Amino acid sequence: MTEVKRVFKVDGKPFFPLGGQSTNSSGYNDNESERAFEVIKLMHGNTLEIPVYWDIVEPEEGKFDFTMVDKLLVSARRFEVKLILLWFATWKNGNMDYAPAWVKTNPKRFKRVISQNGKDVWNLSSHCKDNLEADKKAFVALCKHLKMKDSTDQTVIGIQIQNESGIMGSDRDYSPEGQAIFEAPVPAKLITAMKKAGKGRVYDIWQKAGGKEAGNWTELFGWPGGEFMTTLSIASYIDRIAEAGKAVLNLPMFVNVWMMEGNWWPIPGEAYPSGGAVTKVLDIYKWMAQHIDIVAPDNYPDDSRSYENNAANYSRDDNPYLTPESAGDLNMFRGIAQYNLIGNFFFGVNYIADENCQVRPEYQALIENFRCVSSAIPLLLKYQGTGKVHAIIQEYKQAAQYIDMDGWMGIAEWGERTTRPQGSDWRHATGYVWHPQPEMKIGRGLVIQAGPNEFYLVGSHCRLFLRRKPTGDTLQSYQLVSESMIKVYGYIVSVDEGHFNKNGEFVADRRRNGDEIFRRGLWVEEDTGVLRVITCD
Ligand code: DGJ
Repeated sequence: MTEVKRVFKVDGKPFFPLGGQSTNSSGYNDNESERAFEVIKLMHGNTLEIPVYWDIVEPEEGKFDFTMVDKLLVSARRFEVKLILLWFATWKNGNMDYAPAWVKTNPKRFKRVISQNGKDVWNLSSHCKDNLEADKKAFVALCKHLKMKDSTDQTVIGIQIQNESGIMGSDRDYSPEGQAIFEAPVPAKLITAMKKAGKGRVYDIWQKAGGKEAGNWTELFGWPGGEFMTTLSIASYIDRIAEAGKAVLNLPMFVNVWMMEGNWWPIPGEAYPSGGAVTKVLDIYKWMAQHIDIVAPDNYPDDSRSYENNAANYSRDDNPYLTPESAGDLNMFRGIAQYNLIGNFFFGVNYIADENCQVRPEYQALIENFRCVSSAIPLLLKYQGTGKVHAIIQEYKQAAQYIDMDGWMGIAEWGERTTRPQGSDWRHATGYVWHPQPEMKIGRGLVIQAGPNEFYLVGSHCRLFLRRKPTGDTLQSYQLVSESMIKVYGYIVSVDEGHFNKNGEFVADRRRNGDEIFRRGLWVEEDTGVLRVITCD
């Protein structure tokens, strides 16, 4: 049993945010933000992530304009959707695109990173106090505004501070200020934290470089020293902003990460922004930035190996696993079942619908994934972390998937491609072998075992077969399929298609029995909602 830290709350109760992130410029105009809300509803989502831009809310230094924020609050309430605001300010994808003009045009005061060749980079230096103070002041103004306008409704459930922070174009700031910090001793607090941890990637790199008790960044870490120094500086910078924001507004605050594990050689400042909370330096963020509730990976890979590698690295006791950006594909089911994903967002919701706000055909499968997860949220809140939530995912060329449950064995098969007798029911017109076969779809879903004899299934194009696990000292003959099909596939008290109501209670909408259950498995399709299966001994 793993304790799942539910960072997001609504009305004081644990909340599983599900939805998408709007495209980067959608907060600049009402049409695009409106479309983003509409798509969240099409996705069966409950939360929209949308940027708030520093250049818009503080067009002149000290003069704030929160019109865009107010509009978002009104729309979100109209659509009954929660918001996570993304504070696009000092950093956006490793550059300073969203800083106001008065910051961008005054590099003397708002210092930029200087790269190794002496040229400045389009990136505000984390070593410059004016940068920090200006960003912090604007962020605190935003938080105060939210406190004033949203304390009652609590439409905003969290804030992401910056976006994929770090430096693109250099591993560190080679300006005189940056150089002085680089040559100074590594702060004792970091050495103490490494010693206390006694393991992990930062610790290992320190040990590999000799494990010295004191010294500058190169002496302690070798070539990664520049990135480590930048990481501590950027983590502390964002932490100061989070601290100041939280002093006025009690909301979860997190950072997202441009991952280092991608399709390029993992060189900081080249393959990913240096100083961002990548796997290698995640510990530094966790040790040194106590006001940041979650370090959340933008976990996009389609392939399960890369996705799971990232999920495993960021799902830790001290870091709940959240994906503020994802591809919204089958990996979401893996994240939920195996890594206790506490919230998931698809990036780029505006693409999903056409000009008539209809889901484009190529996004239908994604919508179906979200429908499945959305319908199971009350169960996820209850059973994630208990080992009772299982993902069903049809892998390439996989005939069936075995699922090990408490007292029960499960076999998931895909749509009509079953080795058991064919068929589902009249609503799914491929019930018999002589019917036209549908295009090959991918089976996926979740099975949640709520009790020794209580199962819930959501999914699409898959079917589950249940059998009791053998017990006792010898295998009884009736436990073999050949002996008695009825006994092996029996034990079903009831099968109901239904949904969860607002109080999280299951409501049965349609009962299945007879031909629709006998030896055909427990199938789920787009229109079957949540399937509740009650068994007996
Ligand atoms: C990751 C960033 O965080 C997003 O804002 C966006 O730029 C996507 N990449 C790709 O479009």
